[in-house]
Amino acid sequence: MSEEIKQEAPKKFTVTIDNIVVEVSPGTTILQAARMIGGDVVPPTMCYYTPLKESGGKCRTCLVEVSKGSEKDPRPMPKLVASCRTTVMDGMEVKNITSERTLHARQGVVEFLLINHPLDCPVCDQAGECDLQDLSFGHGEGGSRLDFPKRTFTKHNIGPYIQLHMTRCIMCYRCVFAADQLTEQREHGVLDRGYHSEIATYIEKALTNDFIGNVIDVCPVGALTDKTFRFKNRVWFTRPEDAHRDCDKCCGKVTLWKRGDEVLRVTARKDKWNEVQTYEDGTVGWICNECRFEKKNTSDWIIEGPTNVSRHSIKSVNHYINMLKPKETIPDVMGRNPKLLLDIHSVSDVNDPSIHLSKINGPATSKTFNKLIENKE
Ligand code: SF4
Ligand code: FES
Repeated sequence: MSEEIKQEAPKKFTVTIDNIVVEVSPGTTILQAARMIGGDVVPPTMCYYTPLKESGGKCRTCLVEVSKGSEKDPRPMPKLVASCRTTVMDGMEVKNITSERTLHARQGVVEFLLINHPLDCPVCDQAGECDLQDLSFGHGEGGSRLDFPKRTFTKHNIGPYIQLHMTRCIMCYRCVFAADQLTEQREHGVLDRGYHSEIATYIEKALTNDFIGNVIDVCPVGALTDKTFRFKNRVWFTRPEDAHRDCDKCCGKVTLWKRGDEVLRVTARKDKWNEVQTYEDGTVGWICNECRFEKKNTSDWIIEGPTNVSRHSIKSVNHYINMLKPKETIPDVMGRNPKLLLDIHSVSDVNDPSIHLSKINGPATSKTFNKLIENKE
């Protein structure tokens, strides 16, 4: 009779977060354990990014209270800890939304992050999908106690694809890790120290490396945005659709951000934590510059269908399930068909339908529009 090989089940740690018990493998961080539970228990993050090694530990947004260290050493941890960098112990008890200390500290962190961040959401391309906007809405205070002028910087042009707005940067380092880990040569980084530190390139080198566009997706705020999408639309007016193409450089799986039939922007697909999707086989869905910046025709892509926006977000507006147009409600409301419908284009040049925003190279500003209108005449 063959000897039976007894395999011991891998040891699991029991952790309690906000009174909810979860079993996790040793080495799991408090943040990952909370994400396994899901919902409000999950601390917000601004610098941690699962697919980027070494990320986390910079912004302190994910602070939690450890009220019991472990079964063996039940003493509480004296200070709040960064949940993205602290691994669990067996029997650990953690308080996030059930801790007054945590909520108060998080409010302070948001206030610090906003000290130098401009409130230019009305003109920022990241508005509507900005982690700092969500964070300040969910955890911040109504006002600021800052009496001093906010920091300003000398403007750097970092190339044809990416717009840098240093005043919006929160120094999370995600873009530096992304450039380090995805491209052959990192050409930007954090220069100087402390108050003076800033994201910059040496001698204004253009960031044109094949996978550098991914820094746009990892940036939690509007400090790095897509120049080819700049000022072309608000994100909530666009319709996200999953699409793919055969690409010999990247996975070719993307989200197209469309207005009508026009592809205004191409991004990597994001998961419910707003991080670039990791697929079942462990590959991360980073996309190359060609897919992101140069494939702006619907015919370049095989459309799979509307993107499932799993986060509660303004991005979920404009989602027409099965691509059906919403029902026209005017006759229902008025009891008859309208006698006259004003065509805005007969009285205004704004949003002239014959001008294709996707065909404008770079940002859409009044200058570009005037030139296009002149050419038309
Ligand atoms: S530019 Fe964006 S990704 Fe880079 S450090 Fe600043 S906030 Fe983070
Ligand atoms: S997300 Fe944990 S410190 Fe920034």
